[in-house]
Amino acid sequence: MKILGISAHYHDSAAALVVDGVPVSAVQEERLSRHKNDAGFPSNAIEWCLTNAGLEADDLDAVVFYERSMLKFERILTSALRTFPYSWRSFPHAIKNSLGEKVWVRGIISSYLGVPRKKILFTAHHASHAAAAFLTSPSRRAAILTADGVGEWATVTAGHGTRAPGATDITLLREIRYPHSLGMLYSTFTAYLGFAVNEDEYKVMGLAAYGRPTMVEQVRKLIRRTPDGGFALAPEYFEYETTASRSYSSRFEDLFGSPRTPFEPIDMETTEGRRFADCAASVQRVLEDTLVEMARALHDETGLPDLCLGGGVALNGVANARILAESGFQRVFVPPAPGDAGCALGAALYADRIYFKNPDRDIPDHPFWGPAVDARELAKAATEDGQTVQELDDARLVERIADDLAAGRVVGWMDGASEFGPRALGHRSILASPQSREMRDRLNRDIKRREEFRPFAPVTPLETADRYFELPSGGARLGRFMSGVFPVRPEYRSALGAITHVDGSARVQTLDQAMAPRLHALLVAFGKRTGLPVLLNTSFNVAGEPIVNRALEGYSTFRRCGIDALVAGGVVVTKAAAPPREVAS
Ligand SMILES: [Fe+2]
Repeated sequence: MKILGISAHYHDSAAALVVDGVPVSAVQEERLSRHKNDAGFPSNAIEWCLTNAGLEADDLDAVVFYERSMLKFERILTSALRTFPYSWRSFPHAIKNSLGEKVWVRGIISSYLGVPRKKILFTAHHASHAAAAFLTSPSRRAAILTADGVGEWATVTAGHGTRAPGATDITLLREIRYPHSLGMLYSTFTAYLGFAVNEDEYKVMGLAAYGRPTMVEQVRKLIRRTPDGGFALAPEYFEYETTASRSYSSRFEDLFGSPRTPFEPIDMETTEGRRFADCAASVQRVLEDTLVEMARALHDETGLPDLCLGGGVALNGVANARILAESGFQRVFVPPAPGDAGCALGAALYADRIYFKNPDRDIPDHPFWGPAVDARELAKAATEDGQTVQELDDARLVERIADDLAAGRVVGWMDGASEFGPRALGHRSILASPQSREMRDRLNRDIKRREEFRPFAPVTPLETADRYFELPSGGARLGRFMSGVFPVRPEYRSALGAITHVDGSARVQTLDQAMAPRLHALLVAFGKRTGLPVLLNTSFNVAGEPIVNRALEGYSTFRRCGIDALVAGGVVVTKAAAPPREVAS
């Protein structure tokens, strides 16, 4: 059975194709359209998914949209009526931007793909998140917790799932509904701290490490725990229901002070800079505490050892690590794409297992469902452009790049199919030595062109990860897709200066050799030269651009920033300014 999943029209549009119960292709629209966080109808992603599998739209048995658009329409309409007349300004905006085409999704999909309307199905938004988290995990029975900004009505769901031959089940026991939302709480602080909502939430988490949670009591005025184990936001501090331009109220500002303007630098040497960092640390702490308590209650209720986490909130690696440590679950699974893009895959899997009742299948445990890089394309472009191009076999390439990295060069690394999800996990990465703070500053300044407080993540072989990082039981699993933040062992913090965050932590990827064997070999070769089989691994893009997809985009990025060497397959390109070492080829 061939099922296409689609998420679109909010942010991070994507398409995913599931054939006979297993993903074949999945890609976010932004990687193809080259518009970051592209929210439009994912026509490029759909076309690529079908072409990659050698299918026509006629071959599809079903097309599944990741949420119930009429329910979302109802939520926006109801919210607007509830807060009328204050909402009269935001309602047209919400209709235009949040809904727009969404209500007419069945007609759009039908006319775009030419599939009959009866083949078009809809899943609930959080069922898509739950399916993306549970059905891609190796767990056969797990508790499921999802949390995001909002879907139709739900913002948090809690339940459990079972995978058994012919009897897959996902039961969501309860939900918390809009406007009460952990994602909206965090996004409100994201906006208050001068960052882009739905995009820069991870900057708040990065900034939190510089601060102290001195304003936890103030944040707790915004979010009240309810007797049933849920929470409710205090409406007087928020305005996202009533205006499109601002998410917090003047009472919010009374509590936390004046907001940061987006272009104001954050200087930790100033009182203002420290206030913003303390504010980030405080909302981060409250988010973690709330998630840990909800997860603990779900553990006590289900008695299950495994937890699958979904929704955009599951991108918060500090919270995930605390859930693992404190909620009682032995294993916590976060998929590579827990946010709305991942819902395209979740919706397709949900339809396959639960709507069509197809047999359970193990999903390959990796994130590489996107377009493959073409090394010949890179060689051709670089040669025509007069750059130094070499073609090496795998063993020589690994030794050569390990030499470059040990010499302090920065490498753009493209290998095979691209990652589905926001993290570069070894196929579209910028790699560098993890050893010095100067390297971190150089990458932030000359390559990524982003704020200096932003940390970089390390990648290290799974088998030796706990030598350098304090991984609790279950921590290596969270690190598989870079979903947990853990302490760097104190004795290695100065030796790993480029990837150790200000609080001594790192969002480490624990690399299983079978998942990305070439990167694994590179780590081992780098370890032989430096004594540390650890590399700095950051997504291959510059600020404001999506992660590179094709070889040409990697080449264009390489030419525009301070990357010294670029790899795709067996092809290595170097800039004239950074000549390669003498290596026989
Ligand atoms: Fe969502």
